[in-house]
Amino acid sequence: MNSRVLTITAIFIALLFINNQGALAGPADWLSSTPKKTDKDEFSEAGNDYRLNCTPCHGENGDGNGQLASSLSKPPRNHLDAKYMSGRTDEQLFKAISEGGAAVGKAEDMPPHNTTLSKGAIQGLVKYLRHLCDCQYKKK
Ligand code: HEC
Repeated sequence: MNSRVLTITAIFIALLFINNQGALAGPADWLSSTPKKTDKDEFSEAGNDYRLNCTPCHGENGDGNGQLASSLSKPPRNHLDAKYMSGRTDEQLFKAISEGGAAVGKAEDMPPHNTTLSKGAIQGLVKYLRHLCDCQYKKK
């Protein structure tokens, strides 16, 4: 090995080390070929799923005012409404997203997503809805 290669290698290793300093992920994360998913990753995935699949009806910020909202027979739910959302269990939310509105006695305009989204993705969306309403299920 000539000295130039050695120098470049040394700089490369040093950069890897510097890049890793102060990063949230531990050294094991960049060493393993499949990085471990963190809660944060799962959350941003759910955010993406929401933007792609839900905002056309439920609105950019989840307030129920999506572009398609006015063409539906029933207005899409306002996911920011903590009063309403805390009256629904996680199971009910999961079922509504998975099997559609009709499956939980709600409007058919809320379409099923179990053919397009995985179980894990739908669970992520339930958590995301809890984040949007900043609420949990409360027994009345
Ligand atoms: C085509 C429009 C449309 C799309 C797309 C849509 N929804 Fe809905 N959604 C509705 C409508 C309309 C309702 C209101 C049904 C009712 O109140 O009878 C609703 C209701 C809901 C409810 C409330 C169910 C309950 O228990 O009251 C949840 C939760 C929900 N949607 C989540 C989602 C999520 C998450 C997505 C994206 C994966 C999504 N929706 C995509 C139209 C839509």
